[in-house]
Amino acid sequence: MPNKKVKTIIFPVGGLGTRFLPATKATPKEMLPVAEKPLVQYAFEEAADAGIERFIFITGRNKNSIENHFDHNYELQSILSDSNKREMLKKTVGWLPAAGQIVFMRQQMALGLGHAILCAEKFVGNEPFAVSLADELFYKKDGNILSDMIKLYDNLNEKCNIVAIQQVENKKDVSKYGIVAFENENANYGKLSHVVEKPKIEDAPSDFSITGKYIFEPEIFDHIKGVKPGINNEIQITDAIADMMSKFNTYGYKIDGERYDCGSVIGYLKANIAFALRNEETKDQTRELIKYFNRDIK
Ligand code: UTP
Repeated sequence: MPNKKVKTIIFPVGGLGTRFLPATKATPKEMLPVAEKPLVQYAFEEAADAGIERFIFITGRNKNSIENHFDHNYELQSILSDSNKREMLKKTVGWLPAAGQIVFMRQQMALGLGHAILCAEKFVGNEPFAVSLADELFYKKDGNILSDMIKLYDNLNEKCNIVAIQQVENKKDVSKYGIVAFENENANYGKLSHVVEKPKIEDAPSDFSITGKYIFEPEIFDHIKGVKPGINNEIQITDAIADMMSKFNTYGYKIDGERYDCGSVIGYLKANIAFALRNEETKDQTRELIKYFNRDIK
C-alpha cells in the first residue's frame, strides 16, 4: 500500500558527537561508514524506500561533507565514466534524490534534539512528518522499520505520534535513554502512558527505550516551544512528547528488527561486524577473521 500521509522527514544531524571523539572532531558521525556506506545514506535510503518525498537535514558547522555526499562529484564521475566503471558510478550517484527534494539547514547552535527538530517547523507545514536519527542504524531482513511505522500511522487513522521503542539490553542502561510506560505490552505497539528522559533505575517505568525513529503531528512544534532546557541544558524531544500526550495519543512501536547505536564506539563496531557477516561478499572472510582474532591479542 503506498504511503498516504507522511511525505516529509527530518534528519537531525547537528549533534556534536562527543561520545565518538576524536573521530568526530572534523568528521560528522553520520558520515562514518558501516561497510562501504556512510550512516546517513542508510537512513536516507530507508526513508526513500518508505515513500518519503521531502528530506530535511538539520546540520551544523563541520557537517559540510554530508551535503557534499548528497551532490554530484563531477571529477570522480568523469574518471569512473571514462574507465567504464559502471558499478562504481552507480554507487557514487545512482541513489541520489532528485534536485529539489532535499533541504540542508543549519541549527547554528547544538541546543538538543528538540531544538533541531523545531528548526524545520517553517519547512514542514501543517502535516505529519517523520524524524530519523542517522547515528542509529536499523536493520530488518527484507524489510524497512520506518515503513512499518508509517503503515501503522496510516492504519490507526487518527491524529497521533508514534515512537519506535526497544527493550534495553541491560536494565542498568535505562538511565541513558528516554524510557516509556505503555499499554498492551504483549502487542507490537501500545499507547504510551508515561515517558521520562534518563530516569534512575528505580524510577524507570519499564525497560523499553525510545529509539531514533518518530512520526509526529505538526502540533509537536508548539510543545517543543514550551520545553525548558533539561538534562545537559538541551531541549529534549522527550519532554515535548510527554507534554503532548494529554492532547493526542502517542504510541510506542516495538521495532521488529535490529538497532545499532553507532553514536557509541562499541555500537558502531558491532554494526560493522554484523553488516560484514550479512554481506555475501565479505561474510566468509569476516568469519575467518573473527576466528583468527578470537585469541589473546597483545
Ligand atoms: P545525540 O545525543 O545522540 O547526539 O543526539 P550528539 O549530541 O551528537 O552525541 P553525543 O551524545 O555528544 O555523543 C541524537 C541525534 O540528535 C542530533 C544528533 O546529531 C543525533 O543524530 N542532534 C543532537 C542534533 O541534530 N542537534 C543537537 O543539538 C543535538
